[in-house]
Amino acid sequence: MSKEETPTVTLIRGDGIGPEIAQATLRVLDGAGARLRWEDMPAGMSAVEMDKDPLPPRTLESIKENRVALKGPLATPIGGGFRSVNVALRQALDLYANVRPARTLEGVPTRYQNVDLVVVRENTEDLYAGVEHYVDLRRNAAESIAIITRFGSTRIAEYAYELARTQGRKKVTIVHKANILKLSNGLFLECAREVAKKHPEIQTEEMIVDACAMKLVVDPTKFDVIVTMNLFGDILSDLTAGLVGGLGVAPAANIGADGAIFEAVHGSAPDIAGKGLANPTALMLSAAMMLDYLRQEQAAARLRRGVLEALKNPESRTRDLGGRATTGQFADAVLRSM
Ligand SMILES: NC(=O)c1ccc[n+]([C@@H]2O[C@H](COP(=O)([O-])OP(=O)(O)OC[C@H]3O[C@@H](n4cnc5c(N)ncnc54)[C@H](O)[C@@H]3O)[C@@H](O)[C@H]2O)c1
Repeated sequence: MSKEETPTVTLIRGDGIGPEIAQATLRVLDGAGARLRWEDMPAGMSAVEMDKDPLPPRTLESIKENRVALKGPLATPIGGGFRSVNVALRQALDLYANVRPARTLEGVPTRYQNVDLVVVRENTEDLYAGVEHYVDLRRNAAESIAIITRFGSTRIAEYAYELARTQGRKKVTIVHKANILKLSNGLFLECAREVAKKHPEIQTEEMIVDACAMKLVVDPTKFDVIVTMNLFGDILSDLTAGLVGGLGVAPAANIGADGAIFEAVHGSAPDIAGKGLANPTALMLSAAMMLDYLRQEQAAARLRRGVLEALKNPESRTRDLGGRATTGQFADAVLRSM
């Protein structure tokens, strides 16, 4: 994408708090001077009402055409009901790298200072590949199969080392459970080790996932880039979000060879939806990642600066961070701080 173009971005406002945080994010993107055209598309529960389909073909086509989407959270029924649209989108568009930075934000109350790490999670395989069934006719037993491939493991490891190199990071921690899951996790570890050998300039360490969870809680400042499989990455990245202020401030990107979707780590938060209580920081920081991806770095920097400044002021923080501001008032504060 050349720096002068005005890209068209698919916008999925999403379910629950999605429309509120999307509206706040659109305002600050505009204020930051981002050059974007929007294509509003339905997905999730709202799409079931409108199109009778949680992932209408027109939405998928729009993302394929535009190659970039900004997405609010989508609700997924637990147990039965339709399959997760988030998982379906990542697989349909082959968005193999889920990138979740966790960084201390000045003014946001946390247990730790100076956390600055990135979780790089494989996004298409593992237990989320969708291969599961009941083992017996009475439905008393079920199994889910973790699919780990040489191709998928190598490409996510390559992505993680490349991210470390371009962001000037020093260390990659390969997280696995190959001591027990010797074949599937063993294959992931073998592939990641092969990639590590090609990057002697970057320090590599290996860690079993349970030990990693413990060490992250004890001292997250020891971590730089973490690369892991889908399920472990899903869990560890919520943990790392908690280390820097919670789900309300954790951004994410889903990146593939042919496109990317930017979204907050959190879900649709039905408990606070429609009340103006949602913290839009996570989606705003995801939007800043999107601007970097689109090579609109100046607008990205302006947006980040506005968010970071607004967070410093207790008056402009939302309730999850101990403040009293509404979603819209936080957006006002970001605009003032730019
Ligand atoms: N990427 C996604 O679209 C995504 C991710 C996770 C969960 N989900 C879906 O979201 C729904 C609800 O899931 P859940 O309740 O387990 O997780 P959740 O992330 O929606 O909420 C967990 C807790 O965090 C709070 N919270 C989340 N985001 C917040 C924000 N921006 N500001 C303030 N507080 C916030 C909520 O109020 C809630 O108490 C489910 O249907 C789930 O499948 C979607």
